[in-house]
Amino acid sequence: MKQTGFLSLKGVTKRYPDGTTAVSGLDLDILRGEILVLIGPSGCGKTTTLRMINRLVEPTEGEILIDGKPTSSLDPVILRRRIGYVIQGIGLFPHLRVKDNVSVVPRLKGVPREKIPGKVRESLDLVGLPLEEYGHRWPSDLSGGQKQRVGVARALAGDPEIILMDEPFGALDPITRIGLQDELLSLQERLRKTVVFVTHDINEAMKMGDRVAIMREGTIVQVDRPLDLLARPVDDFVADFVGAGNPLALFRYLKIREVPLRTENLPVVGPDSTKEEALEAARNTPLKYCKDRLVFICDKKKVVGCCNVDNRRFREAATLAECIEPVTHIHRNSTLQEALGLMISSGIANIVVSGDGDEFLGILSFVDMTDFLQMQQGAESVQETR
Ligand SMILES: Nc1ncnc2c1ncn2[C@@H]1O[C@H](COP(=O)(O)OP(=O)(O)OP(=O)(O)O)[C@@H](O)[C@H]1O
Ligand SMILES: [Mg+2]
Repeated sequence: MKQTGFLSLKGVTKRYPDGTTAVSGLDLDILRGEILVLIGPSGCGKTTTLRMINRLVEPTEGEILIDGKPTSSLDPVILRRRIGYVIQGIGLFPHLRVKDNVSVVPRLKGVPREKIPGKVRESLDLVGLPLEEYGHRWPSDLSGGQKQRVGVARALAGDPEIILMDEPFGALDPITRIGLQDELLSLQERLRKTVVFVTHDINEAMKMGDRVAIMREGTIVQVDRPLDLLARPVDDFVADFVGAGNPLALFRYLKIREVPLRTENLPVVGPDSTKEEALEAARNTPLKYCKDRLVFICDKKKVVGCCNVDNRRFREAATLAECIEPVTHIHRNSTLQEALGLMISSGIANIVVSGDGDEFLGILSFVDMTDFLQMQQGAESVQETR
């Protein structure tokens, strides 16, 4: 059965009073519980489209339906309470402390007074900012990534069915950005909100989107799942945009969670193990090393650290506990490209993959990753020749 949209835009056009047509005859069906990414060049109408969904901007023509009901029939204020909005450029209230920024939404929603602190705590917890530590801070005393998290917490605090995010991670450095993307994907696995996510960055679009809508000059050129955009771009504009035909494209967009990880015969020991056990684990693994032999130390499935059985610190230590060092690990929602980046910057060929709360999931090795990609590309070219 064809799924119909939970949030549908039908023939939506926006002409601003100065004559600019920002959006033109746009049709889009967004499914319940999906992340739909809107991407396109600056000025193509992404922000206008988001703002028409929550009626901060009224369409000139066409209609927008939520669960089959035209939004034009709803009171805009009540409508906006059902929709979380993370605006372009963060937009925290500078004169309100973090907890008050987050409580704005449940207060507007009419949540009973005594329930608001619990709601604020829960929303800040979801984005990894404990109330005790961050609640009393001013926005100006937070890093860019923390401000962005408060923005997300504020959008979540009203328990919205729909969340609109306008370039939420646009202003962040790449490492913070990757971390927040991974957190948002984990959060989404639990919360299953209907999310419309705007970005300029194709890597971010393909990573975050269950489906990606490519916009140009106020219309949608193609909307599809990321790998379908790569395999079947409708025209040259889309093909160029997603980098179809580039053998590295799959590598840029596939998530680690889509690749089988090694979970057996690993160089992994518990923190109470002996140095001999660590050496034994290094000896018995079929994993290939690029230079140093690392043994990873995990405690009841949580990643603790690593030791390098080839270095002096290991040789001279009396116990394993004395030579544990911090370990680089990567979240399962990160992409293969991000994993390779970390492998190169930390000089390792086998990277530990973690889930939420640093749960140990397995190891991704460079060789397994390239083998997998070769297999995928082989499967694609077989399909093409059929
Ligand atoms: N209030 C307005 N009055 C007139 N024109 C507007 C108004 N708001 C936006 N526009 C124009 O509408 C077009 C689409 O703008 P919009 O902000 O939706 O683009 P965008 O895709 O979000 O761009 P960016 O990626 O730069 O954020 C642009 O040409 C913009 O100049
Ligand atoms: Mg915009």
